Amino acid sequence: MGIIVNGSLFTLHTKNSTYQMKVDDKGVLLHTYYGKRTDETDYSYLISFADRGFSGNIAAARGDRTYSLDYLPQEFPVCGSGDYRVSCLNADLGAGVNDCLLFFDSYRTYRGKYSLEGLPAMFAEDGDPVETLEILLKDYKDDLYVRLLYGVFEDHDMITRSVMIENKTGQDVKLSRVMSTCLDFSDKDLDMIHFYGKHAGERQAERLSLFHGITELRSTRGTSSHQHNPFVIVAKKDTNENMGECLGFSLVYSGGFHVQAETDQIDQVRLVMGMDDSDFLWTLYPGEEFTAPEVCMTYSGSGLGGLSRSIHDGFYRHLIRSPWKDKRRPVLVNNWEATYFSFDGKVLLDIAREAAKMDLDMLVLDDGWFGKRDDDYSGLGDWFVNEKKLGCSLKELSAQIHEMGLSFGLWFEPEMISEDSDLYRAHPEWAMVVPGREPIRGRSQLVLDMSREDVVEYLKERLFDIMDSADIRYIKWDMNRSLALAYGELFPRERQGELRHRYVLGLYEVMEALLARYPNLLLEGCSGGGGRFDAGMLYYAPQIWCSDNTDAIERLKIHYGTSFGYPMSAVSAHVSVCPNEQNGRVTPLKTRGICAMQGAFGYELDLGKMTEAEKEEVKVQVKTFKKHYRLFQFGDYYRISSPFENGDFTAWEYADREGKEACLSVVFTDLHGNPAPHIVKFEGLCKEKRYEVSRDGEPLGEFSGAALMNGGLLLPMPRENYDSCQFYACEK
Ligand code: GLA
Repeated sequence: MGIIVNGSLFTLHTKNSTYQMKVDDKGVLLHTYYGKRTDETDYSYLISFADRGFSGNIAAARGDRTYSLDYLPQEFPVCGSGDYRVSCLNADLGAGVNDCLLFFDSYRTYRGKYSLEGLPAMFAEDGDPVETLEILLKDYKDDLYVRLLYGVFEDHDMITRSVMIENKTGQDVKLSRVMSTCLDFSDKDLDMIHFYGKHAGERQAERLSLFHGITELRSTRGTSSHQHNPFVIVAKKDTNENMGECLGFSLVYSGGFHVQAETDQIDQVRLVMGMDDSDFLWTLYPGEEFTAPEVCMTYSGSGLGGLSRSIHDGFYRHLIRSPWKDKRRPVLVNNWEATYFSFDGKVLLDIAREAAKMDLDMLVLDDGWFGKRDDDYSGLGDWFVNEKKLGCSLKELSAQIHEMGLSFGLWFEPEMISEDSDLYRAHPEWAMVVPGREPIRGRSQLVLDMSREDVVEYLKERLFDIMDSADIRYIKWDMNRSLALAYGELFPRERQGELRHRYVLGLYEVMEALLARYPNLLLEGCSGGGGRFDAGMLYYAPQIWCSDNTDAIERLKIHYGTSFGYPMSAVSAHVSVCPNEQNGRVTPLKTRGICAMQGAFGYELDLGKMTEAEKEEVKVQVKTFKKHYRLFQFGDYYRISSPFENGDFTAWEYADREGKEACLSVVFTDLHGNPAPHIVKFEGLCKEKRYEVSRDGEPLGEFSGAALMNGGLLLPMPRENYDSCQFYACEK
């Protein structure tokens, strides 16, 4: 039983964690415990009541100055309640101030998982040990209801939360902030690990101490962004990769977000997470509901590695829907870095021919196949095939590629519009531009107003039309700028604050329609590389282009950071040319292959320009990936050494769950004369079993699991810059 209700006490258990809340004698929903699995003791005895001074006292506590929401741990704190810390809800019920005050109304529980209309969310299948708790809160005076939703995934140590605001007051309610989760910690000695970045340098891991004040991370860009990621970890000071307690918080949403962690006056920490509220203002009319995106909270008592593996597995089973999650992903070649905009059908077929010889599975035609699009100044929105440029129809091109034994994939950037496009000439009002004012351009393009039904319908029609015109198995869905002003012509002035969220709802609607019509389509997410790498996107796309930076060495850090909150099978990674197009670095082809095999594997170069020796090497790489794909896609992932801490090498490993086999990869990041010996230790094997071990395909001998895990293996000495090696251990 995941959910146990005893009077006013709600205890939620997963395999290794317990979460608890209690309705107190005033009717306030307090948070009483979240951590290591424990019993159903009422943990509210740990709350110390005192007159803190300058803290508001609600009317229900009249005469008792020791009762203040300003220090009490709560499930859903609201602004205007005398709690001066960061809150979850700003709701103006009509007076022009945020004066809502919530008390417990009722609850219900059921087997299975709640879903959220129009929004991605974790799901459960029949028979899964998953339960839902709904707690209804109500303003003490007006009929404003807040429904708190809790999904308990026992097997994965995950608890999801979401919130629905229901207006039954008979008048308009203005919402200017709705956070999806709040977690109050009684402990202040906590670190936060977050993942900052930039275009071509996403998800760099940074660990910091929380301090008295507010630590704040957000994206105001309309997307989850390259700069910050809607996944954070709160960890005890002594927690490391292999030991200690930590919690992961993932927002299942692809728009802007906001995370705040506040250490208060009495050394408690509050964390809130939800949609970006920087210019959010939503009018909730009588009878309407507002649904906030979901947050998924994951507990680990076995360090950061354990946390990541729970998230990988939980997302794999309960968030990623695509049938492709269980199939071997196609090893593809993408023509972007091979040709950029300069290609025709012949160039593409030449690349495909080479790819077929090397046993790749798919050719992906990137940007430039539609409208007038020979550079990135024009054409977006005109989703009509440029047959003149291709020299044939898309149907003919895809048919010829299929004849070679490859399948065919296509790039789209549906949310955008170029001013130099037929679409813009016909519908300038579809761009998010304030009439009569200059637009803010990004990559010389404008953003479509995805809140409009006519825009959504146009995109569906264009996507379906192209999909039906040829045999297309894969779509790379790109988005190459941030939103600046989110303006929508169809909404009045006082409702413009709804546009950013309505944009995301429109995006999800198109993706949902696409996948409903083509359920076997492999959708790859992308936003100038990894600018929209979030849990919301995984609901639609089982893989996401991780970064426009294809340099294997910079990718070590990007992959390392991404692996904390996302399964590696979702990390799309390609081998590209040398010197690298982004930073000029020269790395061995072997290393580029080993690094890209860490995720959804492919190539992004002109295969025909490779030497015969290189082509042979590519064949070996493709063979290796195909042989071990089960490990790479479904194995447990271990970060063996951090590229942020170990200057000499970075290592990672995939181990099969039964300990039958493992693949451990090492990339050297520095060279030394007379180098010190280095040892790597395997994880996830069975100590009692015996394993046959090879390095780069050459047998190394037989070892016990105990030897490989406790003693480890000696690394070879690197012979060139960025040398690498790959160990494979297989049960005898
Ligand atoms: C973005 C993507 C690239 C490529 C280009 C095409 O930058 O991340 O992979 O598709 O757009 O314009």
